Amino acid sequence: MLASLSGALLLASAASASKLSLASADCKLIPGSPAWPSPGEWDALNQTISGRLLRPRPPAAACHEAFAEFSDGVCTTVRTRWNSSQWHSEQPASNMWQNFNGYSCLPTEEAPCSDGGYPVYVVSARERAHIVAAVKFAKEKGVRLNIKSTGHDFLGRSVQPKSLSIWTHQLKSTEWHPVGYQPKGCDFMIREPAVTFESGAQMGELYAQAKERKLMIVGGDSKTVSGGGYLTGGGHSPLSPKYGMGADQVLEIEAVLASGEVITANECQNQDLFWAMRGGGGSTFGVVTNFTVRALPEVPITVWFGTLRSNASAEAKWDVVTHIFREWPKLGSEGISGYLIGNPWSTINVPTLQIIMPNTTSRDDLQKLMDPFVAGANNATGGQPILRGGSTFYSGYGNFQVPRTNLTRARDPTSTFPGTGQSKLITSWLWDTEALASPNLKQALMGSTDNETLLFTDFTAGPGTHSPPFMRGGGNAVNPAWRTAWVRPAAEMNWKGRDLDKLRERMATLKTFERALISLAPEGGTYGNEADFSADNWQHKFYGSNYPTLLEIKRRVDPDDVFWCRTCVGSEGWEETEEGQLCRV
Ligand SMILES: Cc1cc2nc3c(=O)[nH]c(=O)nc-3n(C[C@H](O)[C@H](O)[C@H](O)COP(=O)(O)OP(=O)(O)OC[C@H]3O[C@@H](n4cnc5c(N)ncnc54)[C@H](O)[C@@H]3O)c2cc1C
Ligand SMILES: *[C@@H]1O[C@H](CO)[C@@H](O)[C@H](O)[C@H]1NC(C)=O
Ligand SMILES: *[C@@H]1O[C@H](CO)[C@@H](O)[C@H](O)[C@H]1NC(C)=O
Ligand SMILES: *[C@@H]1O[C@H](CO)[C@@H](O)[C@H](O)[C@H]1NC(C)=O
Ligand SMILES: *[C@@H]1O[C@H](CO)[C@@H](O)[C@H](O)[C@H]1NC(C)=O
Ligand SMILES: *[C@@H]1O[C@H](CO)[C@@H](O)[C@H](O)[C@H]1NC(C)=O
Ligand SMILES: *[C@@H]1O[C@H](CO)[C@@H](O)[C@H](O)[C@H]1NC(C)=O
Ligand SMILES: *[C@@H]1O[C@H](CO)[C@@H](O)[C@H](O)[C@H]1NC(C)=O
Ligand SMILES: *[C@@H]1O[C@H](CO)[C@@H](O)[C@H](O)[C@H]1NC(C)=O
Repeated sequence: MLASLSGALLLASAASASKLSLASADCKLIPGSPAWPSPGEWDALNQTISGRLLRPRPPAAACHEAFAEFSDGVCTTVRTRWNSSQWHSEQPASNMWQNFNGYSCLPTEEAPCSDGGYPVYVVSARERAHIVAAVKFAKEKGVRLNIKSTGHDFLGRSVQPKSLSIWTHQLKSTEWHPVGYQPKGCDFMIREPAVTFESGAQMGELYAQAKERKLMIVGGDSKTVSGGGYLTGGGHSPLSPKYGMGADQVLEIEAVLASGEVITANECQNQDLFWAMRGGGGSTFGVVTNFTVRALPEVPITVWFGTLRSNASAEAKWDVVTHIFREWPKLGSEGISGYLIGNPWSTINVPTLQIIMPNTTSRDDLQKLMDPFVAGANNATGGQPILRGGSTFYSGYGNFQVPRTNLTRARDPTSTFPGTGQSKLITSWLWDTEALASPNLKQALMGSTDNETLLFTDFTAGPGTHSPPFMRGGGNAVNPAWRTAWVRPAAEMNWKGRDLDKLRERMATLKTFERALISLAPEGGTYGNEADFSADNWQHKFYGSNYPTLLEIKRRVDPDDVFWCRTCVGSEGWEETEEGQLCRV
């Protein structure tokens, strides 16, 4: 059982030789290390945080006889809800994609179950002081530290084995500033509506509150993603082609640093951290407790929704898809966004296309752009009319976004995001004007998927991300590749089961898809939140020319690497061993 766990983790870390008998200064402690904190020391931590220290069992323990939690009734519930992203968000240590916890505990009796792929202790934070205590404890004792908010991370960066984890999911309070916000320590007011929210707040909650105030915020196209990973990673939105990246909207960040110090970062103080924590990645510079972001007056929108005809040939579907990419800048330059999701090779998982135009006065604003666009796409097949759809006008952005991001409904596993509770691998790339004009466009697209892989494209870049209409502090650490890109195609692999040969095969195939995507913009980069966790040269691919400055800031504020995560700034100094231990390279 440990063999399969370590096998998957080995793959997961693309790691090399295991290390033996290392001095503790070279490795973070794991249970069994002589210096691992004693029960008394854990109790003392528990007391400083009002008894909020959990020692959670693996999320599917109820399905396994070896665990005291074994229960048919509970197991049935776990099984029923296993495909719900909100369910995994609500568990203290669970993550959505099982390959990132080494398939260490699945809700079937046949599968093994151990706690070896999950954090050992979890601080279920209800206030800032709990986070401070956890960070100080991890730093003093040399214990591996993890941060989990929702556990959505596509690179498995919110589940670290044998760690102490800070769980921010309960931190959700918000405070709206309808007329403006004065950043702390600044002697001026930013006269835009804004909201301060704790970092565990999820998109669906923020959208619902914004709508009540006739406001909208630049957030992800997701119910359940939280501010913590989204804003620190950059954050793209259906509103981004018009209004900029999520990180571009940030006015202020409050965070707990590795030293345990609580800081405020904005354009008037801690400017370097303000820059770095807007795009330079989560779990790197500190634990964010609060974000303050600007809000916008709510605008009406028009949404066009269409599908490709399922019985069309794969060739014709690829022609249409290629046309959509090729011609996208015509729509994108109007501040329009879109999502193309599906598999042109397949007759079942036929691509759907959703296009969103903010600030319209009627559905015709978008429809009159879509008519020639769709005609051109169908003409590209030699005349088979296989793309069809139509526009709907919404008098407010919230009327569209709030019902579809309802968190109550997100608990229903039938509204699942592809792959939830199963295995998932992603690779993506950002394509600019030149890439979309390439004669190899169709070939690159066709080379980026097979019939088991979704082509999942976010058309979420445009004028607003190229030169942001709003940005405080003169700039931020969002990957510069976003500033020239129009689209972010991704190959997303989802499959069932825990077969390590299958995982190896999928990882190898992912590399061929990655090469196809990269081929159109080899000097470019990608979005580190939606990328291949095992990418080589990730420093350049995920952070671009910002990397050296980000690394300098990381070394200054966290010289001991209290915060670590895969592909995060400074993470190259450590590697994961077969035992799930983190050791200096
Ligand atoms: C269904 C789905 C839809 C998505 N849609 C979009 C989208 O529309 N746009 C987009 O840009 N991205 C999207 N993403 C990607 C998303 O931005 C990332 O998965 C992101 O990492 C999720 O952040 P989280 O806080 O919810 O998740 P987690 O997995 O809990 O955390 C992600 C990372 O951030 C760190 N982190 C979390 N909270 C904090 C904190 N308070 N302080 C410091 N570090 C922290 C974690 O340690 C981890 O490294 C989507 C993902 C999914 C699964
Ligand atoms: C922490 O303290 C609470 C309250 O006393 C207790 O219920 C809980 O079990 C403790 N946690 C651990 C890991 O011992
Ligand atoms: C969860 O998803 C898997 C893979 O798609 C599927 O086989 C399973 O039936 C789903 N479970 C539930 C309860 O819907
Ligand atoms: C962080 O946000 C929460 C929710 O609005 C608020 O209660 C808390 O006071 C904020 N902290 C600071 C320092 O502003
Ligand atoms: C596909 O189905 C449509 C009806 O949905 C039909 O009109 C069309 O002829 C079919 N095309 C092919 C190529 O079979
Ligand atoms: C929407 O469009 C109107 C009219 O052009 C403009 O005055 C307003 O600023 C726009 N609002 C937003 C949020 O884009
Ligand atoms: C349709 O396709 C043909 C051949 O590719 C091309 O010459 C023509 O300009 C296209 N017409 C339109 C309206 O896009
Ligand atoms: C979400 O859906 C539930 C149940 O359908 C409903 O009671 C609730 O009001 C909805 N929430 C929002 C914000 O629309
Ligand atoms: C998927 O592709 C493989 C290899 O090309 C082929 O053998 C298989 O039949 C295809 N499966 C489906 C469901 O189309």
